[in-house]
Amino acid sequence: MSGKITLSVIKADVGGYVGHSSIHSALMDKARERLSKALEKGLLVDFHVTRCGDDLELIMTHKKGADSNEIHELAWNTFLACTEVAKELKLYGAGQDILKDAFTGTVKGLGPGVAEMEFEERKSEPVIVFMADKTSPGAWNLPLFKIFADPFNTAGLVIDPAMHMGFEFEVLDIHAHKTITLSCPEEMYDLLMFIGAVGRFVIKAVRRKDGLAAASASTEKLSEVAGRYVGKDDPVLIIRCQSGLPAVGEVLEPFTFPHLVEGWMRGSHHGPLMPVPFYEANPSRFDGPPRVIAAGFQVTNGKLIGPRDMFDDPSFDGAREKANDIADYMRRHGPFEPHRLGLDAMEYTTMPGLMKKHEGRFKAE
Ligand code: 13P
Ligand code: 13P
Ligand code: MG
Ligand code: MG
Repeated sequence: MSGKITLSVIKADVGGYVGHSSIHSALMDKARERLSKALEKGLLVDFHVTRCGDDLELIMTHKKGADSNEIHELAWNTFLACTEVAKELKLYGAGQDILKDAFTGTVKGLGPGVAEMEFEERKSEPVIVFMADKTSPGAWNLPLFKIFADPFNTAGLVIDPAMHMGFEFEVLDIHAHKTITLSCPEEMYDLLMFIGAVGRFVIKAVRRKDGLAAASASTEKLSEVAGRYVGKDDPVLIIRCQSGLPAVGEVLEPFTFPHLVEGWMRGSHHGPLMPVPFYEANPSRFDGPPRVIAAGFQVTNGKLIGPRDMFDDPSFDGAREKANDIADYMRRHGPFEPHRLGLDAMEYTTMPGLMKKHEGRFKAE
């Protein structure tokens, strides 16, 4: 296929089953029905519908480019149709991520999360789509750094001449709505100062220094859109692999470490990010611990050959076991930090009301 192809991953929670733990198959069926029609009309080249926890994931290929009005409208209308099904079944939080009434040409800022990448298909195009539940976009900072900047993770940074020059990281300041691009290895320590603050600075994209698109992440923060807690952002991430980019195994390697992320119960706790096969992406214990799945595809003439369930591998059993140990340890803190998020990060806090209630009772020391 000549010309560029666009891979769009657009996701939303439009209703949980049961509670926030998983998704009902009726929502997936409705999404497939909608996207099949778009495929017949020629709007899509291919699609795959899946889910992680209670999040519905639309993985689509097309020729319309990133930020396409038509593709975003298709995703939006699909989520609305699925919301109707969720309402009929009285699923939990039906329409949770449908935060605005009207479509405005893009789903950005309306509630759903988006990661998109337009590229010229290479001779072979292996891609991994990561999808997480019960966490935030900052959860990708650590693995993305390891994949594209840590030679102890990615042997190719040392061995492969095509990668030796390093990568550029586009970082979004979530509060200021501004981006900065930092180059590794030269600016590695500057980069780490920013992206170590996972609640404020998030990696939006990674490029090779010759401009080749390597990774693209969703950066939507629901609380920023809604101005209150409405569920966690539950981000997605696209990474291209091999032939001058990190190998599939180098891209998966950071997830052997179940690092602590923001999310879990009521979006207000730190917990380990557990890599799981598709069928285990049902966060139930204290609505967690947070999960990540990895869907591998070969993109071939725009078709999505796959998915392969990349964490369905006993070599991730150790990470899952460790995540359960960390979950036990963190849970024992109950309502205390650092299990519970700090006040500034707490989006579901009763603190403003509590302060008001006790206003008159605070005495000077
Ligand atoms: P509610 O039970 O009031 O919805 O709050 C808990 C929760 O799940 C937050 O999303
Ligand atoms: P979700 O963001 O996955 O809907 O989870 C919300 C929640 O409050 C879980 O306790
Ligand atoms: Mg939910
Ligand atoms: Mg969710």
